[in-house]
Amino acid sequence: MLALQGRSLLGDAHNGLFLAAPRRTGKSTFLQGDLAPALQQAGVEVVYVDLWADTRRDPGTLIAEAIARALEAHLGLVARTARKAGLKAVKVAGALEIDTGKIGQIDGLNLVDALRSLQQAAGKPVALIIDEAQHALTSEAGEAAMTALKSARDQMNQPGRVNLMLVMSGSDRDKLLRLVVNAGAPFYGSQIQALPPLDTGFIAHVAGLVEAQRPDLVPVDRAALQEAFAAFGHRPQFFMAAMGAVLSPLSGHSGRFEPALQQAARDQQAQDEAQMESDYLGLKPTEQVLLWRMLDQGPRFRPYDAEALRFYRDKLGRPVSVQQAQKALESLRQRTPALVWKSARGEYAVEDAAMHRWFQARRDAGTWPPDPQQGRLLPDDA
Ligand SMILES: Nc1ncnc2c1ncn2[C@@H]1O[C@H](COP(=O)(O)OP(=O)(O)O)[C@@H](O)[C@H]1O
Ligand SMILES: [Mg+2]
Repeated sequence: MLALQGRSLLGDAHNGLFLAAPRRTGKSTFLQGDLAPALQQAGVEVVYVDLWADTRRDPGTLIAEAIARALEAHLGLVARTARKAGLKAVKVAGALEIDTGKIGQIDGLNLVDALRSLQQAAGKPVALIIDEAQHALTSEAGEAAMTALKSARDQMNQPGRVNLMLVMSGSDRDKLLRLVVNAGAPFYGSQIQALPPLDTGFIAHVAGLVEAQRPDLVPVDRAALQEAFAAFGHRPQFFMAAMGAVLSPLSGHSGRFEPALQQAARDQQAQDEAQMESDYLGLKPTEQVLLWRMLDQGPRFRPYDAEALRFYRDKLGRPVSVQQAQKALESLRQRTPALVWKSARGEYAVEDAAMHRWFQARRDAGTWPPDPQQGRLLPDDA
């Protein structure tokens, strides 16, 4: 937190803190349950917005609305009074004029004014937390909002005085990177940090709960819990559900619960992989080779260059036109759940970074590509 307010030796964290961690590992819970209250405690006005809260809505609009809501909370009385009195504009803290008719309908262009007004109306620094920030790159309004935020940051912050802190989180480091790596990227030059997964503290807490409720299970094997948690991909929801199941009197096993928990973790892993496999096998052949190429190339993926087209032809045994490749990409993006992500600039990536791990593991094991015959019953006359 001190890092955000510009008081840390960590360098430029106040210029924007970028936090990446896989899906369902507790980012949103941390941002809302730990970071936001801690910032509020430190006298900071916090605005939180999750761009995945409603993926049908434009990310630019979601950001603007979150700021407008916070602003309205501060201006509510002033603005209502002003409107009743027929005043067209109100002065906030003796500084900015705000058009009373426009409160609540902020567009990308005056996000800067809105943030400045909020900071002045609140009389404290503002922290804007944007969860799943990479989603902003999927629309032009979202990109514009990001650029406006950077400009707001540059205008509002002076050396030794931070008025606007930006925190961006994302489930995919590579996508978040696009906000900071290219020279034209909104936050060019900022660093992305990995949000560490829940760890020994969380395990100790859970183990403590079990021991308090079930004296017969003391001592709980913390190392085994830790191992199972890691196998669950550090996702507390699945881990806790499995804990509940193996500790239930109905679970039907006797003795220690730890081995059952570890088995549940392995089952979950197998199930995740089976899901990816069946998703892959359910695709049309052209879609499969497009996805294959994407998994193989990662950030270097270019869908239509000569090498890519040669790759598709080699794998399929027939040529694929640019148009066919385009169509396949589009349908990978349109399916529910989407397998492919596209930025407003036409860059593509797999939607779920876990797919890269799955691909790599299968390739290392020599089991790539998935075999459609596997698991099928042999015909009677075989
Ligand atoms: N510290 C925690 N303790 C217990 N459960 C947690 C904790 N953090 C997150 N969870 C649970 O894990 C699930 C995923 O958390 P969430 O914050 O939505 O992850 P993310 O934003 O990374 O996708 C939720 O069901 C949440 O309640
Ligand atoms: Mg989240």
